[in-house]
Order: sequence, then structure tokens, then C-alpha cells
Amino acid sequence: MNFKVPRGTQDILPDVSWKWQRVEKIARSICDVYNYKEIRTPIFEQTELFQRTVGDTTDIVQKEMYTFTDRGDRSMTLRPEGTAPVVRSFVEHKMFGYADQPVKLYYTGPMFRYERQQAGRYRQFVQFGVEAIGSDDPAIDAEVIELAMNIYKKTGLSDIKLVLNSLGDKESRDAHREALIAHFSPNIGEFCSDCQNRLEKNPLRILDCKVDREHPLMKTAPSLADYLNEESSAYFEKVKNYLDIAGIEYEYDPNLVRGLDYYNHTAFEIMSTSKGFGAITTLCGGGRYNGLAEEIGGPAAPGIGFALSIERLLLALEAEEKSFTDEPSLDVYIVTLGDAAREKGFEILGNLRENGLRSEMDYMGRKMKAQMKSADRLKANHVIVIGEDEVNEHVVQLKNMADREQKRVPVEELIEELKK
Ligand code: HAM
Repeated sequence: MNFKVPRGTQDILPDVSWKWQRVEKIARSICDVYNYKEIRTPIFEQTELFQRTVGDTTDIVQKEMYTFTDRGDRSMTLRPEGTAPVVRSFVEHKMFGYADQPVKLYYTGPMFRYERQQAGRYRQFVQFGVEAIGSDDPAIDAEVIELAMNIYKKTGLSDIKLVLNSLGDKESRDAHREALIAHFSPNIGEFCSDCQNRLEKNPLRILDCKVDREHPLMKTAPSLADYLNEESSAYFEKVKNYLDIAGIEYEYDPNLVRGLDYYNHTAFEIMSTSKGFGAITTLCGGGRYNGLAEEIGGPAAPGIGFALSIERLLLALEAEEKSFTDEPSLDVYIVTLGDAAREKGFEILGNLRENGLRSEMDYMGRKMKAQMKSADRLKANHVIVIGEDEVNEHVVQLKNMADREQKRVPVEELIEELKK
């Protein structure tokens, strides 16, 4: 065949898609309990939205976006992330005017980043994300983090840790920025051209450069922690206090900076600590973005959120050998012998399904033995056997596959019998 799934993407085949549904169901039900409502935004947006918010100097904007010109000559981009679109929608639909604040939203869907293919890194991946917009109460930071942790817990994952940092407010970040410029300027000629560009525009980005990672000046760079002003430190203390109240353990990492520009104050990641997991251990990332709504032309609306990828969650479950194994099985498989039985079977099949019973029959004209094998493969809880006698007597043979017991059941009593 000449066609293959595009590099960095994957087909989610039917023997796996049920696991995706399981994760989505868990995540949705937790959001429901926390009173977050779903929002669905388009898969593409104006390119400028991401340039302005994720940031011009980030890897995402500089190297990874799927950008195209549409037939109306507008620059559009397949969304690389969900926060900017959600905040765009929040502003556009004036959700800041809703009576209930903060506005608590969740979303799931594909995101697109042209990244180098690697285990756990895809060009199309599915995020599940949450955004709480309109409050700067440190308790909501803890709520969002707790919600993320609970999604993992509910899936059965246990080898995870929460890593936390504060990026401070604008004043703190500006002071840190000046210190970084002073630190790198004298030797900036030794750095890659990307870093040279970043020096004036966004020196913080130098710290997550993959090319110059080993440069000695990286290790001695001024830490943001030393530049947090009193207000920022106080805010961070309150967030940590609420996490303590919630009983959530965390590891403080002053070097956690995140790859997107809109963050301030709380920044966090949830990592897999499982030995079986590959090189990329971040399962989930998030943080606070107090200036984002204003950046795209809205009123001040402080927000916080996170996004996790379902791919990495499933990989982490595999690494812990805790993959879901309880694939939903069939309630009933109908085995028929002869044409009249087949017609009767087809009629009963419709009736079972109408009653919500997951049922199946043979469409390949197979012999009885092969039909029984299908029933086994599909892990049917019950098998109904219909032959000529059964048709004439208006009954079926109902076999319970758990105890292998078989009995004659009149067709009218079948549903009742199965629901027992
Ligand atoms: P992010 O850290 O860029 O943040 O991505 C969040 C998560 O998406 C990562 O932790 C990772 O699990 C997953 N992810 C990112 N890139 C890939 C990839 N190429 N393949 C597979 N999974 C990937 C954001 O996107 C922010 N919008 C999160 C956020 C929401 N912050 C506040 N609200």
C-alpha cells in the first residue's frame, strides 16, 4: 500500500480505543464532581492568537506550529494547545460577565505540534485540560492541581509526583529578566543563534535551550526564586498551604519554568516516576496565567489550568503494568442452526439490543462450532442457541458461560431471565 499514517501520528485501533474512552470517562466524571463544564473550541485559530500568548520566542511558536494560509489569505494554525483558544472564547463570549465566577471549564481533543518523533511525543496528541478563569484565590490553584492528581489516581496510576514552582508576578519576573541579561550578555557569543535572539526578547527561554544545555553559565544562572517579591512569595506560601490541607505532596523545583510564555505565579508538572517509562516523564503541565485575557484584548481575568496527554497517561499505565484489562464484554451471543433459526435469531437480537443488552450474532454463515468459538473470543456472558426445534416450540437454549449451565427458556421470558 502507498499510504501510511503521517509521521508522529497514530491510528487508535478498536482493541485500544476502549482504553481511551475509559480515560476520558474517568476524567469527565471527575470534572463533573468538581463542577467543571465542557467547552469545545475549533481545531484551528488565527495564528496570531498563539504568537501573542504562547509567545513568539517559544519552541512551540518558532518551530512546531502547523500554520497555513487559508483560501481567504488568512494565516491559520492548528492549535498546539488549548489554553489560548479557551481564554479567547472566554473573552469573546464575555464569560467574565457570568454570575458564577470563576468560570470552570474542561476540554479534550487533538493538539498539533511539529516535534521530533520520540516515545511519548507525537505530532498529533490528545490533551485533556481544565481552566478555571476569573479568580486569583490560591485555593483554586490547589483545587486544579488536586483535580489533575485525582484523574491519575482514578485510573490506577501510582508512581507519580507533583513538581511545583512559582514564577512570580510581572515585577518579580522583570527583575529576574534583568539579572539574566546581565548574566548571559558578556558571553552570549558562545551560545546558539536562537539563544542570541532570546537574550533581549525573552532570556528565560535560554534556560530551556536544548543546544546549550551543558554551557557552564547555565548552571550559575540567577534563579527566579531569588527574585520573587513579597507578594509573590506570600501567594506561593498560600498555595502550598492549601495543598497541605488537601493532603497533596509536592516537590519544589525552582528550575521548573514551563515552555509557554503566559505563565506567572504557580507552575506545576506531574511526572511519572515509574522505571519502565521512557525519557520524557512529564505527564501533565499547568499553571497560572493572570495576564492572558488582557493580552488578547479582554478585561483582567486571572486563570489557572493544566493539560495532560492521554497518550502519555496510557503509556504510564503500561509502564506500571496497570493497563486496563477489563475490556467490556458481550452480554449475549446468538448461535443459530439453519435459515429459520437465523431469522428467529435476528428478531431476538433486535429485541435484546432494544433492552440495552450488548449482543451479537454470526454474519459469516459459519458452522455451530465456529459460532461458539466467536462467542468465547468475544467473552459473551450468555450464549443463546436456536435450532429448528426451538423455532417450532418458540423457545431458546440459554447457556450461562460462567457456570456452563443450560436451560430452555420461552422467548417471551428471555429478557427477564437475562436481566436476573
Ligand atoms: P504543555 O506543557 O505544553 O502545556 O502540554 C501539556 C501536556 O501535554 C504535557 O505535559 C504532555 O503530557 C502533553 N504533550 C505536550 N506535547 C506533547 C506531544 N508532542 N506528544 C504527546 N503529549 C504532549 C500546555 O499545553 C498548556 N496549555 C497547559 C495549561 C492549561 N496550562 C494552563 N492551562
